Amino acid sequence: MNLDKARAICDTIAGQISSLYVGDQVLIKKILAGALANGHVLFEDNPGLGKTLLAKTLAFSIDCNFSRVQCTPDLLPADILGTRIWRPQAGSFELLKGPVFTNVLLVDEINRSPPKTQSAVLEVMEERQVTIDGETYRCEEPFFVLATQNPIEYEGTYPLPEAQIDRFVLKLSTGYPGSLDAEKRIVKRRIDWKKDDPTRDLEPAISAGEFRALQEVVENDVYIDDVVIEYIAEIVRRTREHPQVEVGSSPRGSLALLKTSRAMALMRGRDFVTPDDIKALVVDAIAHRLILRIEDVMKQTDERKIVKEIVDSVTVPKDYQPG
Ligand SMILES: Nc1ncnc2c1ncn2[C@@H]1O[C@H](COP(=O)(O)OP(=O)(O)OP(=O)(O)O)[C@@H](O)[C@H]1O
Ligand SMILES: [Mg+2]
Repeated sequence: MNLDKARAICDTIAGQISSLYVGDQVLIKKILAGALANGHVLFEDNPGLGKTLLAKTLAFSIDCNFSRVQCTPDLLPADILGTRIWRPQAGSFELLKGPVFTNVLLVDEINRSPPKTQSAVLEVMEERQVTIDGETYRCEEPFFVLATQNPIEYEGTYPLPEAQIDRFVLKLSTGYPGSLDAEKRIVKRRIDWKKDDPTRDLEPAISAGEFRALQEVVENDVYIDDVVIEYIAEIVRRTREHPQVEVGSSPRGSLALLKTSRAMALMRGRDFVTPDDIKALVVDAIAHRLILRIEDVMKQTDERKIVKEIVDSVTVPKDYQPG
């Protein structure tokens, strides 16, 4: 697949998503960047803002399977992974696959599930394999997890430990509709759809196999210059030196930036990453990895502001084009 074709496909997918989801094009590109980078995305949002619609639309636009899990305090790992049951007639075990055997998995309110279940999901995200009763099964490809958590409810939740939050390539938020016009369009679409699930009629823009090919293009054919890599490294290093930060970003944060910025460059029509691509993603890729000093936790200092401050303090490189 050449770069022009890859870019055109990304545009078509983004177009399919915005045919149903009313919202920021930038947000759609970021989600796509997460998926193209073969990562997983965490959403922190209030209910009813279109996350399910977004996840389903993405899945169906790339001709992928979709499953959803609603997390509750009594959810067991087996409810997500599946179980093996003994079939006496056949004299063997049969795998009853859980919802994790899919391409796009929406894990709603992940912080309501108990730690054991959270860690089961997070292990699958990282290893891309499922172990049930000592047997290992590969996840489907592509495999993309979108998890959500509610920012306002703390009662009855088990906040994700830092080590687990670190597994998400980006942390995003859809937020409320940006204007009165957007609000109106959401309502008007419902008048046109007249059915509960508008995603049912969605035509896929590409096949799941083509999406895999697109992921390969992002990984192999988008150039990133040494000076841009240094830019990433410098930003991430400074998160560890910031006076308000107790624990800075892990190197996984740098890798998240490396991968998603390549996808962003491609969607923006280039075959090389610019510092602007890094700036577009740095807050969503890094802020959730920071642990602030206790005084700043008490003051509810915003990690996102700290990342922006750091980015502003780092010299932006020039001469990052290939050749
Ligand atoms: N930005 C939007 N564009 C189009 N439709 C929207 C948007 N936001 C919400 N809706 C509509 O509002 C309803 C609720 O959206 P959806 O179920 O996707 O929200 P959600 O964020 O998944 O909520 P919850 O957190 O409760 O699961 C759906 O019918 C959806 O079509
Ligand atoms: Mg939902």
